Amino acid sequence: NYYAVLMAGGIGSRFWPVSTTEFPKQFHDMLGTGETLIQRTFSRLSKIVPSQNIFILTNERYNDLVLEQLPEIEQRQVVTEPAMRNTAPCILYASMKIQKENPNAVMVVAPSDHWIEDEDAFVSNLKQCFDSCTKKDVLMTLGIQPTFPNTGYGYIQYKKEDKAIKKVAQFTEKPDYDTAKRFLEEGNYLWNAGIFIWSATSIINAFEKFQKQMTSLFEQGNDVYNTDQENDFICTHYPQAENISIDYAILEKAENVYVLPATFDWNDLGTWGSLYDKLDKNDAKNAVVNARVLSQEASGNMIMASNDKIVVVDGLENYIIVDKDDVLLIYPKKKEQDIKQVLKKVKDTY
Ligand code: GDD
Ligand code: MG
Repeated sequence: NYYAVLMAGGIGSRFWPVSTTEFPKQFHDMLGTGETLIQRTFSRLSKIVPSQNIFILTNERYNDLVLEQLPEIEQRQVVTEPAMRNTAPCILYASMKIQKENPNAVMVVAPSDHWIEDEDAFVSNLKQCFDSCTKKDVLMTLGIQPTFPNTGYGYIQYKKEDKAIKKVAQFTEKPDYDTAKRFLEEGNYLWNAGIFIWSATSIINAFEKFQKQMTSLFEQGNDVYNTDQENDFICTHYPQAENISIDYAILEKAENVYVLPATFDWNDLGTWGSLYDKLDKNDAKNAVVNARVLSQEASGNMIMASNDKIVVVDGLENYIIVDKDDVLLIYPKKKEQDIKQVLKKVKDTY
């Protein structure tokens, strides 16, 4: 009864100019391991979920890219969306399809772009969560010990209990800096890893309770899911769904949310800085990919080029330097969250 939903529809805009709308980061080999992020995520999940039960949710424009990178899957496992509506609609849609296929399904919902090395710990954490949502009507999250007031994550306040799996007191998606700082000082908070485990029934019930409109929109398709008419239905109905993430739509509102503090390493590879942290650094503390660097008074920089291009850097600290085709980005690491807006500006201007 184990299923997996792999979310691969984001565009990774903070990783511009390497991640683009045409070729988002989950389809890149960001760490130079010989495998793309989605390939690694798929193989990690298939250690616990039968591979024919793994569904990839993505925008229709990435359908061929998914099939190309995961040749072991069939077309029916690539569930495509005609419009970008964030994670809540895609999770509800997938859950309804899966429940129709197997009313007793329990599923893990996972992003396609995270970096996790300790796969054994990952699998054993997932097993624990699958166990608990097979028995109870619970929405399980995995929590990561926070290290700084990152405003790009969800924060999970848990009840202090002497149990491995803890009840969540409050889920707060992307708090502002001062709130995040206060959370860290208070102590009983974890970052939301963005990996969820629940039964198809539990998550659909939660949608019925907290997202009535979206639920009735997708319920209209109950008769056509997993049939030839599904595509027509989705093309006309999916774009009508509200654009909202699962965190705001359900997790901030539901009362049956639980958290298992994860025992594996975790990096969400969300920004250039997180990639810098993950890569080996040279003597000058620069992380260098596909470049030959001559540097002076330059450290803490993330430098990426192609074809071993020669890059000369002098007097620059903690910068992102990325040379990709017709774009050259030189940007302070401390403002890396703003690259999303920069990309928008670039698109509007050029
Ligand atoms: N199929 C599909 N469709 N996938 C999507 C869509 C969509 O419209 N939008 C985003 N995704 C995918 C992304 O590719 C990514 O793998 C995952 O869903 C999460 O989306 P992000 O946009 O990366 O979310 P986030 O990083 O802002 O926040 C989430 O993850 C954090 C941890 O990395 C939240 O769950 C936070 O609470 C969490 O801390
Ligand atoms: Mg993310």
